[in-house]
Amino acid sequence: MTESSAGIIIGCDHAAFGLKETIKKYLTETENIRVQDAGAHSEASVDYPDFGIKVAKAVSKKEFQKGILICGTGIGMSMVANRYPGVRAALCNDLFAAAMSRKHNNANILVMGGRVIGDVLALEIVRTWLSTPFEGGRHQKRLDKFDTIGCIA
Ligand code: RB5
Repeated sequence: MTESSAGIIIGCDHAAFGLKETIKKYLTETENIRVQDAGAHSEASVDYPDFGIKVAKAVSKKEFQKGILICGTGIGMSMVANRYPGVRAALCNDLFAAAMSRKHNNANILVMGGRVIGDVLALEIVRTWLSTPFEGGRHQKRLDKFDTIGCIA
């Protein structure tokens, strides 16, 4: 495969290591999706930007069409990921946001807070996010305007 965009790249920090392992298992064993694990690989304290950068960079470079990032709240990972061109990272700690982030925003990175939601809800959010298509149309016109935003200094 020249392009690995068929799979999903996932990353976390120490606060969401356990949830990352749970999601990885669900994606590979239940959904039969290839998962690229960008770390972290334990509960030892790390800096979330290091892992957010890895995932966001891969999605920005179109090495993967979709990514998942999780930290304690999901806030830090969202902030990091949305600095990358072409990345539309959505912090979704509920099912409505997960569905809408796909339908209206064509989100390409799902972000969740491992200290905010439980594993069962997180898996349901992942399932919803992956199975909900982008509606295009007027929403694409709005997303196109993102690309008119340059560096505002
Ligand atoms: C780590 O303690 C925590 O700050 C991090 O997981 C995340 O919530 C940052 O936004």
